[in-house]
Amino acid sequence: MAVLVTGGLGYVGSHSVKQLVERGEHVINLDNLIFGHKQAACGSEVIIGDIGDRALLRDIFSKYDIDAVMHFAALADVPESVADPRKYYDTNVAKSLALLDVMLESDVKMMIFSSSAATFGDPQVVPIPEDHPKNPTNPYGRSKLMLEEILREYERAYGLRAISLRYFNASGADPSGEIGEDHNPEHHLIPIVLQVALGQREQVSIYGTDWPTKDGTCVRDYVHVSDLAQAHLLALDALRNGCQTTEYNLGNGNGYTVMEVVRTAENVTGREIKTVSADRRPGDPAVLVASSEKIVKELGWKPKYPDLETIIETAWKWHSTHPNGYE
Ligand code: UFG
Repeated sequence: MAVLVTGGLGYVGSHSVKQLVERGEHVINLDNLIFGHKQAACGSEVIIGDIGDRALLRDIFSKYDIDAVMHFAALADVPESVADPRKYYDTNVAKSLALLDVMLESDVKMMIFSSSAATFGDPQVVPIPEDHPKNPTNPYGRSKLMLEEILREYERAYGLRAISLRYFNASGADPSGEIGEDHNPEHHLIPIVLQVALGQREQVSIYGTDWPTKDGTCVRDYVHVSDLAQAHLLALDALRNGCQTTEYNLGNGNGYTVMEVVRTAENVTGREIKTVSADRRPGDPAVLVASSEKIVKELGWKPKYPDLETIIETAWKWHSTHPNGYE
């Protein structure tokens, strides 16, 4: 029995693959290497290719005895999705439909899907529960919501069961220091802040200092990537035990401002991190904090690294030992 992981050489994918392999799962890791890194394979069987390639998918499903798919492969740059929505609906929706088609042809009927807090848009209440209204403010969030809705219909019509995991702000790195976050270009706050600590950037721009929050900067719910990985393994077990299609939010329920992240990173690294005020970034909500009670209660999810300092310590261990990422 094997698990097909798409995008398993990327950031959240590779951390999940590592935990799958560590518990003895046979992992087939399909990645097109656009964002993935070969060095992040973690003992999985890597196949270089695209999720939109039906012929390749048919080969994979006929060659291996796959019972479930973890589907990470996607584009995830919010501003880019606004500038070029076609690319996002093509990769995140159309190519996912190709994958689902071949799964159904091959009678593989379990999927764990990487969704996002971006499906909610501006929250009306925080912490955000799963059934909060969904009004994505960008094509990225809408593409993720579309797939969630498609997965609901595919259960009704075809019996394909899926768990959608809505990540809030994925961050940190595997505590071993072997794998971590390496995006090019990098847009995320914590790696950017640590690049300033490393002297690779002069300063970090703070996107808005006049938000209605305690210090005027945006509040986010940072969740450790290894805790996200743990949730994927629990979701796989739940599907194998017969659970029905559902969605779970993944965050720690604690919001930190951008300035709190910078100050915590200064403490962790012992270095000064220069900041400069900049305009608000279009599409940013002021506050995004998850309620993850549902997955805690239903699947027994227990984050091991919930506090911001530990998250940044693990990220620092990775960035300070891999200043140029995997290269
Ligand atoms: N920020 C800065 N300066 C920077 C980078 C970020 O001030 O140089 C701020 C952002 O404005 C935001 C916060 O830091 O308020 C966090 O920004 P990130 O880009 O790290 O993360 P986001 O909250 O924008 O986005 C993340 C994921 C998206 C996802 C979104 C909602 O990266 O894929 O959460 O789920 F859509």
